[in-house]
Amino acid sequence: MHVVRFVGSAVDKDGYPELGLPEVAFAGRSNVGKSSLINCLTGRKGLARTSSTPGRTQIINFFSIDDFLMLVDLPGFGYARVPERIRAGWAEMIEQYLGQSRWLRLVVHIVDARHVPGELDRRLLDWLTAHGRRFQVVATKVDKVPRSRRPASLRAIARTLQVNEVIPFSATTGEGKRELWRVLKEAVEAG
Ligand code: GTP
Ligand code: MG
Repeated sequence: MHVVRFVGSAVDKDGYPELGLPEVAFAGRSNVGKSSLINCLTGRKGLARTSSTPGRTQIINFFSIDDFLMLVDLPGFGYARVPERIRAGWAEMIEQYLGQSRWLRLVVHIVDARHVPGELDRRLLDWLTAHGRRFQVVATKVDKVPRSRRPASLRAIARTLQVNEVIPFSATTGEGKRELWRVLKEAVEAG
């Protein structure tokens, strides 16, 4: 069991906790399953607020794990039904964090295993690459893809995003949890 603690929220740099813990951030489109994935990883169902309606997470939330790692739940991007002004604010919040956090070691980019990633997903990875940020693509909700179609879905995602490895994940079944933890630990140890 992990000792998991909600540390706080932030909308900008002044609010980031400065505990000196290495950070892993979870980024992706609205409603893709970022907060659910954090809950699954930590084994704490109600830790990060989730919802079937997109736009649930609206600020940056920080959760510490065993006082050795900080998990960072970001708002989603690309939700068309949020007014443009607010969407731009969220984008700014996300970009500032990803660009300026001193402790960020890895960005877990989460996509929906059922869909081919879109323009915004490609832009995020281009941006992370340009800014020298290490990332890992995770395809979540894989429980919703029939087993026979999974290899093709994962290949299509990898091809579209031009990455070698996509970790299949399900917050419902816990599939992929061990593999993702391994990647998180590796990134933290690499510094
Ligand atoms: P925002 O904060 O609004 O950007 O959303 P989010 O990316 O944090 O998504 P959230 O975790 O709130 O989940 C969105 C919806 O997807 C919820 O109804 C979840 O129950 C559902 N969901 C998330 N992960 C999975 C999964 O692995 N499998 C299935 N079947 N449903 C999932
Ligand atoms: Mg969320």
